[in-house]
Amino acid sequence: MQTHAVVAFLVLALGTTQIHSTEWWENGNYYQIYPRSFRDTNGDGVGDLNGVTEKLQYLKDIGFTAAWLSPIFKSPMVDFGYDISDFYQIHPEYGTMEDFERMIARAKEVGIKIILDFVPNHSSDKSEWFINSVNGDPDYKDFYIWHDGKINEETGEREPPSNWISEFRYSAWEWNEVREQYYLHQFAVQQPDLNYRNPAVVEEMKRVLRFWLAKGVAGFRIDAVPYMFEVDLDRYNQYPDEPLSNDTTCPGSDDHCWTQHIYTQDLPETFDMIYQWRELVDDFHEEHGGDSRVLLTEAYTSFENMIKFYGDGVRNGSHVPFNFDFLSNINNVSTAHDYAEHIQKWINAMPAGVYANWVLGNHDNKRVASRFGVQRTDLINILLQTLPGHAVTYNGEELGMTDVYISWEDTVDPNACNADPDTYYDRSRDPARTPYQWDASENAGFTSGDQTWLPVSDEYKQINALQQMRAPQSHLQIFKKLVRLRKEPSFRQGAINIQALDDDILIYSRQKTGSELYVIVINLGGSDKTIDLTKYYSLGGQAEVITTSLQSKYIDGELVDPKAFVANAHVGTVLVAIN
Ligand code: GLC
Repeated sequence: MQTHAVVAFLVLALGTTQIHSTEWWENGNYYQIYPRSFRDTNGDGVGDLNGVTEKLQYLKDIGFTAAWLSPIFKSPMVDFGYDISDFYQIHPEYGTMEDFERMIARAKEVGIKIILDFVPNHSSDKSEWFINSVNGDPDYKDFYIWHDGKINEETGEREPPSNWISEFRYSAWEWNEVREQYYLHQFAVQQPDLNYRNPAVVEEMKRVLRFWLAKGVAGFRIDAVPYMFEVDLDRYNQYPDEPLSNDTTCPGSDDHCWTQHIYTQDLPETFDMIYQWRELVDDFHEEHGGDSRVLLTEAYTSFENMIKFYGDGVRNGSHVPFNFDFLSNINNVSTAHDYAEHIQKWINAMPAGVYANWVLGNHDNKRVASRFGVQRTDLINILLQTLPGHAVTYNGEELGMTDVYISWEDTVDPNACNADPDTYYDRSRDPARTPYQWDASENAGFTSGDQTWLPVSDEYKQINALQQMRAPQSHLQIFKKLVRLRKEPSFRQGAINIQALDDDILIYSRQKTGSELYVIVINLGGSDKTIDLTKYYSLGGQAEVITTSLQSKYIDGELVDPKAFVANAHVGTVLVAIN
């Protein structure tokens, strides 16, 4: 065990130490709001913008820097807002443009930045652009990816142009009776892919960005980045088939995992597009002044690609290329070595002058407390808030909300609806999208109405914001303490010195020279362990508990002996050295 520990011992000099922290977005604490489920003010069972406005002070009180909102634009709601029919309008169920402007004004007053979701890959099939394209309008004819398909030599029948498969299952090509051609949709049939090889599309999407920037937003989270470009048809006579993945875990040939997406994902042009958008927000900032506008990018892709989204050394890219390690590569059986390895890998690979970031949850994945185990709720939040760089929290994770079971009959997520009763649950994103639990009143205080678009969790009487705000000890109290702690110089600019002691124990320090030494102890395992922390850090004779998981034997403010520190099962603790 000891040999392992010594080998794993690494001191990481952070890019952050070279930055003079003056910008609002640096070391930011970002909160994702799923507006449909956050707060409903008009009793229709669906969240709205006035609900967001009402709760901005709550976010400020916790200490968040910015809120990024899942799409609020006009939409038929096939993919709950990720199918946009008008990129310049507010979805009527969510409110009006005046409501939006009030939200922005209130956010400015309170001091929370508002970041919108920008969905560049596709529109809704109800968008005027698509309707015009179907009808062959010369201005829109090539706005989407259209193709005649191919004729099967044996049967003489027309078939889709290639074997490309949608993320939501089945062929990514759909026949259109009016235009008599196939169109590409990498997600739902009702989400046709825009054609980024058409300069008019690129120009239009830049207009969309400028439109919302002019309304006062602080930036964008960019959706489904890897899918923007497909292989250039001009280089081939046909769209080529993608090779089979031979992935033995893939359920079947209708599933996206059946093929390797070499012609439909991560094309080199994608990076250039992100760099162009970065230039756009920087130019806007230069022209209009005020605080910097930021880009957050959503790309489930290779590690190398994620890092490339930061920039290529010449051009800048995303301020926050979402790091999905804790969603894709770390789970409830990962060891402390796995954690240490993933954390080190990201920090070591970052270009100079940028920040790391850690995303623990979002509206596309099961909830943190359900994925890692309820008993690890605080431990995971302690980790998120004490690592260097940006922390990204999905609404409800600060309370330890858990997944809500939704039956096949009640399932509404298009990704799950395309499966069957035996397999839908794995694919379903509904369990993490249920209404936010505000208090113990009916429907968890989410709505004054008597129904909600997805069911409210049965646990709302025990797990809700009001109860946790009033309780002396709660997930929310711990979270608030951590958010404040992150503003300390050692967390903002300090190096991280991390190691795994065995499969269960992860320890790291955060310290800026001349500032306090903090030591974080994470016990992933199910049994208590006693550790001599002075072997690894200069903790002296006593250390103080800053905060710790609810079930810890220690309490905040307690003085402990670092030579015999007891890391309780599933407990995370932040200690500070006492000189
Ligand atoms: C992104 C969104 C997801 C959506 C998909 C298609 O991955 O986060 O919710 O279904 O893109 O827009």
